[in-house]
Amino acid sequence: KNIVILISGGGSNMAAIVRASQKEDWAGRYGARVAAVVSNKGTAGGLVFAKEQGLNIHVLDHKTYADREAFDAALAEVINLYDTPQEPVLVVLAGFMRILTAGFVGRYAGRLVNIHPSLLPAFGGLNTHQRALDAGCKFAGATVHLVTPELDHGPILEQAVVPVLPGDTADTLAARVLTQEHRIYPRAVAELLSKK
Ligand code: GRF
Repeated sequence: KNIVILISGGGSNMAAIVRASQKEDWAGRYGARVAAVVSNKGTAGGLVFAKEQGLNIHVLDHKTYADREAFDAALAEVINLYDTPQEPVLVVLAGFMRILTAGFVGRYAGRLVNIHPSLLPAFGGLNTHQRALDAGCKFAGATVHLVTPELDHGPILEQAVVPVLPGDTADTLAARVLTQEHRIYPRAVAELLSKK
């Protein structure tokens, strides 16, 4: 089975999943491999790592498409290079900063997963860490969930909690959460692959 990871930036979650998949028994155990990394930004830092790892790379600049549907159609075309009826591709959103159309989400329902840097259903959307600080939260965290047409919704697969510490800024909190993301995302992907 192929895993295709979509990124827009640093791709640290993508890297964590790739590293996990490189462990000696992983491919055999899960019958899967990371086949490609796709980005909507040619400048995404994660592409450097992906190239170094010898993964297939695709860049689809969303600005060069007439509208969201056209971009999503092109994205599906690329993903379908790695999809087969016998071995449906697993699409992993990792710091992918595009809202996907309901049509695209529907096409990959049940095999489209995302990580969001808050304890959903709290703080869907952007600037989650600053909003948690502004609200006086004592805890923050991240959520891995199946993607549904409603943004930052969908069945929760994994969550991680971190304490908010005195003097935390959005950056210090983000860093603490990111460490947990790198732990729960590879595990959630492995769990999804284990389910027949
Ligand atoms: C992370 O906060 C992640 O939760 C969100 O995008 C941010 C950057 O992730 N989805 P990455 O380093 O690009 O994987």
